[in-house]
Amino acid sequence: MDLDKAIQSRRSVKKFNSKKPDWRDIIECIDAARYAPMAGNNFTLKFIVVNDEKKISELADAAQQPFISNAKIVVVVCSDTKRTVNAYEKRGEIYCKQQAGAGIQNFWLKLVEKGFVTCWVGDFVDNLVKKILKIPSEINVEAIFPIGYESEKKYTRKAKIDLDRILYFENYGNTKMQKIKGLDVKMVNLITLLGIISGCCKTAASVPQVLNIIKTKKTRDLSLAMYCTVTIGATLWIVYGLMIKSLPIVLANSISLILVSTILSFKIRYK
Ligand SMILES: Cc1cc2nc3c(=O)[nH]c(=O)nc-3n(C[C@H](O)[C@H](O)[C@H](O)COP(=O)(O)O)c2cc1C
Repeated sequence: MDLDKAIQSRRSVKKFNSKKPDWRDIIECIDAARYAPMAGNNFTLKFIVVNDEKKISELADAAQQPFISNAKIVVVVCSDTKRTVNAYEKRGEIYCKQQAGAGIQNFWLKLVEKGFVTCWVGDFVDNLVKKILKIPSEINVEAIFPIGYESEKKYTRKAKIDLDRILYFENYGNTKMQKIKGLDVKMVNLITLLGIISGCCKTAASVPQVLNIIKTKKTRDLSLAMYCTVTIGATLWIVYGLMIKSLPIVLANSISLILVSTILSFKIRYK
C-alpha cells in the first residue's frame, strides 16, 4: 500500500469481526514505531501486547468503553519519561508526548497497511490500567489500541479540514505565500506583468484583421481549418490558464478567442 493510501484510509473503527489478528503482524507494526523521531534519541515508548480476554475486558472497564472488549488483541502504549525529563526537564515532558504521537502514528499507519483497524483510546482511568497490566507508577499510559479486522462497510473519506485553514506562511495567521521557489513578490509581479504585456501584443496583432473583415466581409483568402484550430487552441489555453491559475494566460486567450471566433463566424457566413 502506498503512503497516501494508508494516510487517507486510516480512520477510527470500533467494530471488529471475529478474525483474530496474528500477534506477529502486530509486532511488525510496533516495530515501525522504532523509526519515529525521538528528542536526543531517547526512545521513551513501550508497547504492551494484550491477548488475554479477561485483561482486555478489564481494560474496557477501566476505560468505560465496552467496544474495547470486542477486540482480540489490544496494544497499550506507555512512555518511560525518565531519561527525557532528566535531559530536558519540563520540556522533556512535552517531548515525551510529542514523540508518543510520532511513534503511534507510525504504528497506526503500519496497522492500516496490514489491513487492521483500530481506534485510539485516550480516555481511561490511569491507575486501573496500570494495575491490570502491572505498569510501574512512574510510567505514563499514553493510549489503548483495540485491534481487529473490519466488520463494518468501508467508505472513502475526505480530509477533515481545508488545507488553507491550517497552512500559514512566514507568520502565524498569514495565509498568503510570499515566496515561490526563491522568487520574491516583486519578481513574481514582474513576471505576471511580462505575461500580460506579451498577451496584449499577441492579441492586439489580430485586431486590425478583425476590423477589416467586419468592414469588407472579405474572407475568401482565410483558411477555415486554420481558424477552427486557432479557436480550439485559444479555448484550451483558457482551460489551461484556469487550471494553473494564470491571469495573463486566461485574459489574453479570452480576448483572442473573441477575436478569432469573430473571424471564424464571418468566414462561415461569407465563405
Ligand atoms: C488523543 C486521542 C484520544 C482519543 N480518545 C478516544 C477515546 O477515548 N475513545 C474513542 O472512542 N475515540 C478516541 N479517539 C478517537 C477520535 O475520536 C477519532 O480519532 C476522531 O473522532 C477522528 O476520527 P478518525 O480517527 O476516524 O479520523 C481519540 C483520538 C485521539 C487522537
